[in-house]
Amino acid sequence: ATTTTAPESGTGVFSKTRARISARTLRTDRWWLPPLITVIGLGAFVVYATVRSFVRTAYWVPDYHYLTPFYSPCLSTSCVEGASHFGTPFGDLPMFIPLGFLVLPFLLGFRLTCYYYRKAYYRSVWFSPPACAVAEPHAKYTGETRLPLIIQNAHRYFFYAAVIISVINTYDAIGAFHGKSGGFGMGLGSLILTGNVILLWAYTLSCHSCRHIAGGRLKHFSAHPVRYWFWTQISKLNTRHMQLAWITLGTLVLTDFYVMLVASGTISDLRIID
Ligand code: FES
Repeated sequence: ATTTTAPESGTGVFSKTRARISARTLRTDRWWLPPLITVIGLGAFVVYATVRSFVRTAYWVPDYHYLTPFYSPCLSTSCVEGASHFGTPFGDLPMFIPLGFLVLPFLLGFRLTCYYYRKAYYRSVWFSPPACAVAEPHAKYTGETRLPLIIQNAHRYFFYAAVIISVINTYDAIGAFHGKSGGFGMGLGSLILTGNVILLWAYTLSCHSCRHIAGGRLKHFSAHPVRYWFWTQISKLNTRHMQLAWITLGTLVLTDFYVMLVASGTISDLRIID
């Protein structure tokens, strides 16, 4: 076909210099499958995380000191007794404010501005474009040069926040080695919380901004052996960033779900050392 339904001028796929092809794509394979799977996966996580963040039930196991990451740190007097490891500087919070209100926006910002997630949702949610060689529906393309997408450039700052949050989650995981009668104890929950925090660290440290902070803008690696070493290790992790992005969504849900089951009395924790 040689006719076009596109506007005469525009940017991106509709710009004057692009070939005029009326078909949205000439691809005949199932190019829509990866974006479809992505949007289902992201959507499922968002629904689960939103519901769990607001319900305010079954987020703390007093016997074993299991705290779900969605409520950590719990800094308000609305938190159940024992769940506030860092005190309660905030008073009672109305129901529409999640108890994890202080970190959830930063975690959301970290993931939303992540280079991998950007690829994922630009394709699957915004169709910009949905796949290689499939025209996007948008007539204009301004990239990440103006609001709101210019905020993507703040990713490095969300990374700093994510490091602090990972330290807090590590503290929670260590505290989860707690026996019923006080002292040391270990259960399946302690191992799940620990596994989750290790993978969260792997995701956080494999971040592209972290790699750049470690070794970016160095003219001579030989003059900076320590930074070079860190850069090399982070580079190895960085190749797995997409996998870690998905794995940690899974482990976050799994960890929260397990804590919920134990905290609500639906199942009892599998104790290894009581
Ligand atoms: Fe994905 Fe930084 S967390 S690039």
